[in-house]
Formats: sequence, C-alpha cells, structure tokens
Amino acid sequence: MALIALAADKGAPGVTTAAVALGAVWPRPVLVAECDLAGGDLVHRLPGEQGLLDPGKGLLSLATSARRGLRPEQIAPHTQRLNGGLDVLVGLTNAEQAAGMTWLWNPLGRSFAILPGVDVIADCGRLGPHTALVDLLREADMVVLVTHASVDHVAHLRERIAALSADLPKQRAHLGVIVIADPRGFRDAISEVERIIVAAKLPATVLGGLAFDPKGAHMLRGPWGGRLDKSLLIRSARELAVNLLRRPVLESRNVPAGPPRHPTVTSAPPPRAQTGPQPVQRPAQGAPPIGSRGQAPQGSGHAVPPSGPHTGPQQVLGEPPRGR
Ligand SMILES: Nc1ncnc2c1ncn2[C@@H]1O[C@H](COP(=O)(O)OP(=O)(O)OP(=O)(O)O)[C@@H](O)[C@H]1O
Ligand SMILES: [Mg+2]
Repeated sequence: MALIALAADKGAPGVTTAAVALGAVWPRPVLVAECDLAGGDLVHRLPGEQGLLDPGKGLLSLATSARRGLRPEQIAPHTQRLNGGLDVLVGLTNAEQAAGMTWLWNPLGRSFAILPGVDVIADCGRLGPHTALVDLLREADMVVLVTHASVDHVAHLRERIAALSADLPKQRAHLGVIVIADPRGFRDAISEVERIIVAAKLPATVLGGLAFDPKGAHMLRGPWGGRLDKSLLIRSARELAVNLLRRPVLESRNVPAGPPRHPTVTSAPPPRAQTGPQPVQRPAQGAPPIGSRGQAPQGSGHAVPPSGPHTGPQQVLGEPPRGR
C-alpha cells in the first residue's frame, strides 16, 4: 500500500526503535524493512517466532535473488516474523555489503510501494549527503525524519530537510518529522520544533512525537511482553501511528476488507488467525520485474486493492504519554 521511509540526520538516534515501535502498533498490515546502509540491528535485538532471526534471510538474500529484476512478490520469501507478530525484512550485516548494492534501492522502493495490502516502514538509518538510498526515498509516499528537541539536532534537521526537498521533489509535500521528546515536556517540545520549521518555511510537517523512554526502548529490544504495551514509548507510538495514517497521502490507500490486523506487543501473542498480522501478501504473478531492463514501470503506480471497511486507527488509539 504505502511506503513510509524513516531516517535521521547525524546524531539523532532512535530510527530503528521508532520503526519497530510504529510497526508494533501499526493498525494496518505492515512490514518493517531494515534498509540502513550501515547494516541492520534487528537480528541482534529481537527474537523471531521460531527462535533467533536468521541473518542470512533478508535484504541480502533478496538482493541475490533479484539480480535480474525485482518483482514485489519476491519480497515475501525473504521476510521473517518476530515473536510478537511483526513481519520484518532484516537488513545488511555490515556497511561493506551496501557498496555493491546501489542498483537495488530504486527497484526495492518501487516494489515496497506497490506491495498489495501491506504498508512498508523502511528504516533508512542516518542520511548523509549523496546517499544511495535517495533512490528508495524517491519512491516513498512519505519520508519521515526522526529528531530530538535540542538545538543541535534541530539545526541538523533543518539542513537535512532543505537538502532532501531539493533531492526529492515528489515528496516535498510529504516530508514529515517525528520528535523524540521527554514525556515531561512532550507537547511543548513538539510545538517548539514545529514552530522552528514553520518559521524557517521548511517544506516539512511535524507529525507528532515519540516518548523518550529508556525503559520502553529497552523492553522493545527483547521478547515483547510485561509492561511494554503500557510503556510511554508504545503509547506515544500508537498516537503517532494514528497521526501518520490521517495524512491524506496514507489515508487514501485502501485497506483490504477484514478485521483489523496488527502485531501485538502484549506478553502472550494471541493466535495468528485472530489478530496477528498476515504474511506479506503476494501480488498476482506476471507483473514485469522492477529493475529489469526495458520493463520497469514509471513512478510508484500503486496497486490499490479493493476498498474494504476502513479498519479505523482510532480502534487502537492509546492514551497519549503523560508525565511520570
Ligand atoms: N524513544 C527512545 N527513548 C529512549 N531510548 C531510545 C529511544 N529510541 C532509541 N533509544 C535508544 O537509543 C539507542 C539507539 O537507538 P536506535 O538503535 O533506535 O537508533 P538508530 O538511530 O537506529 O541508531 P543507528 O544509527 O545505530 O542505527 C538504543 O539504545 C535505544 O534503546
Ligand atoms: Mg538503526
């Protein structure tokens, strides 16, 4: 359905945590894809449904199988499911692997953007100048930068927005910002970043915040359970997911019919058939591979599945974070 690319500038940690937290509460079927050129972290942090995640199954194996062009349906066999129900595409093992993969980012972005019935949250890590990932970012419905509400982070953010808006003309209206903020001054911090961006007339929208919550972030890095569901991080992620999905560019993507499906961050994952996410759905065979010579479709060309009852993000709306 939609491709949401999360990234940050220098010195603003929290992209992977934001991607996983959002994926964990996303009210529509979702795949979290690690596209960080510096390498992925999920295999070191999170258990899969069948034990440890397999580092050999993910972006690298997908790239190997897509040498002659990439079809969206080639992605599913390289995804894994976390214990807790979230589908992930694990990233590269190290930065060296990214060197020979510059050809992948455009077809991958295009494939993510037309995966039927599944949103993709791509963890794009830190963006420097001339990043090869710009080829993926160009295909995103929304490019979202994670920042902290401090002078230095916001200064870098301003520069990055200006550079990205020149590199990504298509996304100018869909550049977003997430503020990682202390729960005690949560709303004020978000408003302050918003004020700076508006005053500088930057083409980006502040979408909301994620709580700076070391306990919640720590809990998200292991087997999900305990009080994670009630953590400030997850509660703020729920509110943020709702805000994101209210953006017209994402809301307009139709959701397939059926009950709401989203991963669970509760301690005992319910049976998959009831509330667990569906495996990444495969589009019809026969579409030309993306990236194959002479056959690549132009633009994202989103395949919108048949309209069904909107699963209503408000159904999973949690309380906004409050000060402790
Ligand atoms: N919202 C948060 N509240 C508290 N701690 C956080 C939050 N987000 C991330 N952290 C912590 O900051 C550290 C880095 O987080 P994370 O891996 O998400 O950052 P990153 O931007 O993906 O970093 P990298 O560039 O290394 O991939 C981790 O220890 C994580 O637990
Ligand atoms: Mg990361």
